[in-house]
Amino acid sequence: MADVQFEVAEKLNHFGQSGLLKHLQAIDPASAERLLNQINKVDLRMIQEIWQSASAEEAVSESASDRISRAQAPATVVRQPEAEADQQAWTDADSLGAAALAEGRVAVITVAGGQGSRLGFDHPKGMFPIGPVTNRTLFQIFGEQIQARCKRHHADILWLIMTSDATHDETVSFFEENDFFGLESKSVHFFQQGSLPAIDAKTGELLLSSVDSLCLSPDGHGGLVNALKNSGLLDLLKQRGVEHLFYHQVDNPTVIMCDPALLGFHIEQKSQLTTNVVRKVSPTERMGVLADVDGRTQIIEYSELTPEQAASEDENGQWIFWAGNTAIHVFSREFLEQLAEDGCRLPLHVARKNVAFLRADGTMVKPDDPANPNAVKLERFIFDALPMAEKNLIVEGNRDREFNPVKNREGADSPATSRAALNRIAREWLAAAGIEVSEEKSIEISPLTALDAAELSERETRDLMDEIVIQ
Ligand code: UD1
Repeated sequence: MADVQFEVAEKLNHFGQSGLLKHLQAIDPASAERLLNQINKVDLRMIQEIWQSASAEEAVSESASDRISRAQAPATVVRQPEAEADQQAWTDADSLGAAALAEGRVAVITVAGGQGSRLGFDHPKGMFPIGPVTNRTLFQIFGEQIQARCKRHHADILWLIMTSDATHDETVSFFEENDFFGLESKSVHFFQQGSLPAIDAKTGELLLSSVDSLCLSPDGHGGLVNALKNSGLLDLLKQRGVEHLFYHQVDNPTVIMCDPALLGFHIEQKSQLTTNVVRKVSPTERMGVLADVDGRTQIIEYSELTPEQAASEDENGQWIFWAGNTAIHVFSREFLEQLAEDGCRLPLHVARKNVAFLRADGTMVKPDDPANPNAVKLERFIFDALPMAEKNLIVEGNRDREFNPVKNREGADSPATSRAALNRIAREWLAAAGIEVSEEKSIEISPLTALDAAELSERETRDLMDEIVIQ
């Protein structure tokens, strides 16, 4: 039986964790020490406040709904080029972004800490095989894209990959086993995000996953700021003269890695945080949306919108929430530094989920009532930094070309839709180069062969036919 210090016991009682104190007193000293190490990293005051406000659910949803009722479609968006005149602005932005790449002022951040439970894949999502013919994994596609960008722009591009406790070891081993997908290992940096505890929805007590461990889960991609700072990578970026961070999610194989045009607009407008958006296909599509609330641009997450709110229209009959967040952003390094210095005050989002836990009587419980989840989980979202930026920018992307994520087992945003998109894009590039491939065939083009249709067209047909794979 462990002896718990007086101050620790006081603190636990004070913040409503008396059940946890009893548990600590009942277990052996070594287990108690391991558990206390975890508890000491938790801000118990914050947990109590969050639980109290999450319990007053009506107040919370009322304030969200009030904010949403004042939301308007974003006032300024750089739209996809339609007229010749728009094209010039895109060409100029592309040149500006390409110059920044060539000067080594750009690095990539891939957020790969999520557990991918919706996909039902029991490994880090980046290891998911998505290539329509060769089953290239998401990580391989990104790695080859970065390699191809380095070659095209004669650049040195650092790749920073955010992992979590759940994904770190397997991700690092996967890169080692695959020789870093042709990149130099010193250009690839893994850094681990933090975690936050799950709270019992009824009592506000921290849940246990075993005798000596709390139920912990990744702290959301908003954990990026602290994780970058704590790993020393913010300092490294500064030393290396990196000024712009191209940010993307691990689930989208058709992202245009280090998109020079997006980077160019960001640089030209001196933006601190730039977001790529696409038109949503339906009001209820599960995408966060860009909106202006009280003159400040922000992202409203799809889970916060009721179906009626999601479908609301302006006076011209246009959807207010048309601009879906592709989660492709560009951050200025200085803005990230500023967020880190300010102690990363991104808000916590509360989600009610079923979480397996160890009960006081020592039995494991696996709650599964979707109508009555047993736990409150907490996350921070990086895009909540948007209204904190003095200058931000929204740029419309080409949905078919650059937004085809893998999220669900079946249906929309599934491996089937994402593979079909890779196949379609490859077919279009080949057609533009004068090579027709029968619709029944699957095609895969490595980013090392070409990063876009123009590059593909420049290649000799004979060489191309050796490199592309058709089945
Ligand atoms: C996300 C966005 C949504 C956007 C959509 C576009 C959020 C909350 N919402 O939705 O606005 O329209 O993508 O595809 O992000 N991740 C971490 N650590 C974490 C949690 C997540 O690294 O703790 C990473 C995941 O590995 C993934 C990405 O963040 O790369 C997105 O996470 P996910 O929870 O799948 O977001 P979505 O619900 O798909």
